Amino acid sequence: MGEGRYQATKDEEYWGPSDEQQFEAFELGHIVFLVLDHYQENRYFRAPIGDSPQHILDIGTGQGSWAIDVADEFPTATVRGVDLFPPPLTWTPPNCVFEVDDVLREWTWRDPFDLVHIRLMYGAFAPNEWDRLYKQAYKALKPGGWIEQMEFDVRVRSDDGSLKEEHKLSKWGDIFIRCAERAGRSLNIHETMRGSIEKAGFVDVHEKKSRVPLGPWPKDKQLKEVGQLEYAHWKAALEGWAMWLLTHFGEPEPWTTEEVHLFLAAVRHEMKNARIHGYNWINRVWARKPTEEELDDKTNIRRV
Ligand SMILES: C[S@@+](CC[C@H](N)C(=O)[O-])C[C@H]1O[C@@H](n2cnc3c(N)ncnc32)[C@H](O)[C@@H]1O
Repeated sequence: MGEGRYQATKDEEYWGPSDEQQFEAFELGHIVFLVLDHYQENRYFRAPIGDSPQHILDIGTGQGSWAIDVADEFPTATVRGVDLFPPPLTWTPPNCVFEVDDVLREWTWRDPFDLVHIRLMYGAFAPNEWDRLYKQAYKALKPGGWIEQMEFDVRVRSDDGSLKEEHKLSKWGDIFIRCAERAGRSLNIHETMRGSIEKAGFVDVHEKKSRVPLGPWPKDKQLKEVGQLEYAHWKAALEGWAMWLLTHFGEPEPWTTEEVHLFLAAVRHEMKNARIHGYNWINRVWARKPTEEELDDKTNIRRV
């Protein structure tokens, strides 16, 4: 355990491993979002790209489940999923293509995209790298095309005081935020992405925050299912999230593998406790590249 397949990117490492357990975690995360959005006609994204998009890009596609489902849902589109790792081999619809690449390198896709989608890439990049990524996305989109990003707030909260200071889960998020800061990667992308997307030139910006319950505590049947699935998601993901960051950047000094295992055992125990009504915020931002007309108007205003 803890010796997952890690990817070396340039002179650093990406904090998450890419092994079977982590792929299982990605799949469970995908299902959590589908159940959370069960009432939506389109459970995959909010950007209004119409019924017959042609080109869609999923950045950091992971297991590729989002790209596969979207390709099924939109047969007119070619859906590209790009990641540092190839997804595990599985059936893929003919209009879904996976590519192994580093999205920080210059993009060479020729066909302009209707939608560029990013999900759970928190902690992947330094701020200047995010800016570069949004600029590349802007350039690669059709005029009037959309960008959409969904990111977690890693801090667990409760609204009724059931998550107490002595709980490991209450400290969990802040510990990781500080570790990631020391690693030069912000985990608070859910807070900053809107501003960064606006800065890159996108307009018509929308934002939607939702609570994702952690554990079986909700009374509402659908939310209880989400909480149970989220528990399974965390169980599969915990070690992948924690091991690299804590053993490299833990405080006051890097933790040993044993210390991380003990911490995670306590966290798992608390997640099962139905008396703790914990949840995380998840934030979704979607925004549009200006249309040709809007871009022309802007240039004309500048010329006047
Ligand atoms: C937490 S996973 C999210 C996977 C997927 N988007 C989802 O929602 O299930 C983040 C993914 O980003 C990928 N990634 C990180 N840095 C990357 C880069 N520079 N280029 C391409 N993919 C990258 C990782 O390999 C990992 O699969």
